[in-house]
Amino acid sequence: MERKNLVIVGGGSTYTLGIIMSLIAEKETLPLRKLTFYDTDRERQEKIAKASEVILKEKYPELDAFEYTTDKEKAFKDIDVAFLQIRTGGLAMREKDEQIPLKYGVVGQETCGPGGMAYGMRSITDMFELVNDIRKYSKDAWIMNYTNPAAIVAEALKREFPDDNRLLNICDMPIAIMKSYADMLGKDVWDLVPGYFGLNHFGWFTKIEDKAGHDYTQTIKDKIVNEGFIPTDSEIANDQSWKQTFATARKMLMDFPDYLPNTYLQYYLYPEDLAAKEAPDNTRARQVINGRQKRVHETCDRIIENQSLEGVELTDDIHGVYMVKAAASLIYHLNHIYIVMVKNEGVISNIPSDVMVEVPTMLTADGPKAFAVGEIPTFYKGLIENQYAYEKLVVDGYFEQSYGKILQALTLNRTVTDVNKAKAILDELIEANKGYWPELKR
Ligand code: NAD
Ligand code: G6P
Ligand code: MN
Repeated sequence: MERKNLVIVGGGSTYTLGIIMSLIAEKETLPLRKLTFYDTDRERQEKIAKASEVILKEKYPELDAFEYTTDKEKAFKDIDVAFLQIRTGGLAMREKDEQIPLKYGVVGQETCGPGGMAYGMRSITDMFELVNDIRKYSKDAWIMNYTNPAAIVAEALKREFPDDNRLLNICDMPIAIMKSYADMLGKDVWDLVPGYFGLNHFGWFTKIEDKAGHDYTQTIKDKIVNEGFIPTDSEIANDQSWKQTFATARKMLMDFPDYLPNTYLQYYLYPEDLAAKEAPDNTRARQVINGRQKRVHETCDRIIENQSLEGVELTDDIHGVYMVKAAASLIYHLNHIYIVMVKNEGVISNIPSDVMVEVPTMLTADGPKAFAVGEIPTFYKGLIENQYAYEKLVVDGYFEQSYGKILQALTLNRTVTDVNKAKAILDELIEANKGYWPELKR
C-alpha cells in the first residue's frame, strides 16, 4: 500500500492523542509517510505535539516525518488527507452555548438546540477558510470533517463547495453506539453491518447484522430493555454523563420500539427533563475541561517528562480508528461500509433531495455511495423534516445575515418551540458571540 501524507487540523484537540494511537494501531490500514499537525493556537498544539513526537518515535519508526505548525502552506502542501477537528471559540464559548439556553429552561448542548446553532454560526466561517486554504495547496486531498456541529457545517459546506467531491462529513456517534452493541453481543464491531437513517445526531438504526447475514436487531433491543445500555468505548466508558445518556437510549427505545435510537435524540425527545438535569455551573464544557482535557494534558506532561510512553495508559479508540479506516477506504478504494453524511438525492425516498442525511455508504475512490433506504414512516419523516428545516434556516441565517431566519430556526427546534424563549436566547447569544458571528440584520 502506498504511504500517504496526513494533516490533522486542530492538532491541539483533546482527540489528537487518541488519533495518534489509532494511526499506530491501524498503520497497515493507512500507512503514513508524513504526519503534520496544524492549529491556530501554537501553545495548545505544542503540548500535544511534543507528546506525539515521543509516541511516534517509539511506536511509528516507519514514519518519515512528523511536523507541527501554525503555517498553512507548510501544513497543507502535498497532503493526501486532512482530518478537520477545530473548535472555534474553544471550550470557553461552548460553556456559554450551554449556559445561556439553560437560563430559559432550554437544553444547553454542544450540537443540539440553540447551543448548536451558536456553535454552527462560529464554525462556518473558519471551515470555509480552511477548505479554501487546503484546496489552494492540495487540490485532490480527501478532507474529512468532523468539526461540530457537523450537521450544520455539512449543510454549509454543501452550499459553499457544491462541486467538491472530496469533502466528507463524518461523525463517530453511530460507530460508538455500534461498539456497545458489539460488546453486548460478544462480537467484533467491524463485523457488524448497520441499517441506519437520519440526520447527524438525529437518526435510528433499523437493523444490525453481521457480515454473514445474521440479524441481531431484536437480540440487541431485548438486551437493552432487559439488561440496560452502557457505553463501552475507552473514551466514554467511564464518563458519568455518557453513562446517563446511554441509559436514556433505553428509555427512548421503550417509548418508540421501532428502531434503535442515536443517543443525541434524547435532547429532542425529552427536552424538559434534560434541561432540568443540567447544572449551569457544571455543564458539559466544564466537565470536559475538568475531565477529558485535564486527563489528556496530564498524559502529555507525563510522556514528555519520561520521554517515553512506557507506563502511561493510552490506547486507540473507536473515534480515531473510525476516521482512519474510513479515510483508508476512500484513498485505497476499499469499498467498506461506513455511516457518513451525504446529500439525500433519493436515498430516503420521501424526503427532499437536498437534505444532508446520515446513512450507510460504501466509501470508494469516487466518494461515498449510499445504499437506498426507501420510504420512512410518518413519525420519523416528521421529526427529520422539522429538524432539517432548523438546520437549513441556521445556514440561511448565516448566509443572509438574517435575524429572522435564525429566529425561525430556533422556533422550529424541538428543544425551544416558544418564540419568546427563542428571542430571548438569541439576543443573549448574539451578545456572547460578538466577533465570531456575522452581524445579523433585523
Ligand atoms: P478542542 O478545543 O480541544 O480542540 C480544537 C482545536 O482546534 C484547538 O486546539 C484549537 O486551538 C483549534 N482551532 C480552533 N480554531 C481553529 C482554526 N480555525 N484552525 C485550526 N485550528 C483551530 O476541541 P475538542 O473537544 O478536542 O474537539 C475538536 C472538534 O472535534 C470539535 O468541533 C468537536 O465537536 C469535534 N468532534 C466531533 C466528533 C464527531 O463525531 N463529529 C467527535 C469528536 C469531536
Ligand atoms: C460524540 C459525538 C461528537 C461529540 C463527542 C464528544 O462522539 O459524536 O459529535 O463531539 O461525542 O462529546 P462531549 O460532550 O463528550 O464533548
Ligand atoms: Mn458527532
